[in-house]
Amino acid sequence: MACFAATLGVIILAGFINLSAANKDACDLYAVVGESLMLPFVHDGLVNSHKLRWTHNSTIIFYREKGRVSVGKSEDISTAGSLLLKNLQFSSAGTYQAKVLIPNDTMVETWTHRLCMMDKVSKPQLTYMCDPKSSAVNLNCHVAYPQGLVFSWTLDEKTFTSETRPTLSISLAKLKGERSFTCSVANKVSKEKSNTVRPTCKGPPPPTLFCFTSTTVVAVLAGGASLILLLLIIIIILCCCHRCIKTQMRRRDKGALRMLSLNKRESDSISPEYETMHPNEYTENRPAQLSIDSERQQPSPVPKPRTKTPQTPNI
Ligand SMILES: *[C@@H]1O[C@H](CO)[C@@H](O)[C@H](O)[C@H]1NC(C)=O
Ligand SMILES: *[C@@H]1O[C@H](CO)[C@@H](O)[C@H](O)[C@H]1NC(C)=O
Repeated sequence: MACFAATLGVIILAGFINLSAANKDACDLYAVVGESLMLPFVHDGLVNSHKLRWTHNSTIIFYREKGRVSVGKSEDISTAGSLLLKNLQFSSAGTYQAKVLIPNDTMVETWTHRLCMMDKVSKPQLTYMCDPKSSAVNLNCHVAYPQGLVFSWTLDEKTFTSETRPTLSISLAKLKGERSFTCSVANKVSKEKSNTVRPTCKGPPPPTLFCFTSTTVVAVLAGGASLILLLLIIIIILCCCHRCIKTQMRRRDKGALRMLSLNKRESDSISPEYETMHPNEYTENRPAQLSIDSERQQPSPVPKPRTKTPQTPNI
């Protein structure tokens, strides 16, 4: 229950604040401190017999009856009844009311308006920052007290009708060439324009970065491919060499084996000097099958025809 009451109280309070704020905003006259303002009340056919009364916050500030001014100064009133306010202060704000009455105190016209006092806006400072991430330029219109001020932007003297915030973001793509920006701040009584700014942002860097990476990637790929090719060639060459060496070694082994077996067989029958003589011995035994010339050119296949001869006796 207490909670409900508190909530209700807050709501009512909020409503009251809103109402008072709305009342405060309901000014229809605005003026700058130190200046003068003519309150534009006009009563056609105002004559000296009329009673004219001006009030400010219910305080009479001018009264004229039968052509005689008892409150205020006669020179501040126009022939139609307008009141001139001079040297305005913040305390000059509030409700102003004019009343015209005929001699039997019947009111013929009334006029009520509310005056708000304001400071003149100060000149805004326009700055910009290049944002390469979003490839845009961010403009900032800075003023000391931005509350209640209206911001406007111009690009090359043309006004952006849609932009009314203190910041503006423009893509760099739209910023081709030299473009001049200004911002303005305004309140009800004054308007000030910033200096002209011509943003110079480097062209959108992401595409350049992408170009660079793509060339790098291509270079790396080409390098990698050639490296792999080189490795393959080396492996093939190594394999071939290995094979060659292997076959050569196998042949040599076979030859050695054969020689060993030959030596073993012949060591029994022939004298030990045979070993040293034995390459010559082949040539002597061979002529029946091969010419001497071919024999000298290819010394390795020599033992082949003889393989059968030594093996048969062994078996
Ligand atoms: C009149 O009332 C307004 C608020 O409504 C206030 O700001 C102002 O100071 C008052 N002026 C005088 C002279 O009372
Ligand atoms: C005042 O005078 C006007 C016309 O001059 C008349 O219409 C009106 O009734 C009078 N009012 C009073 C209260 O006498």
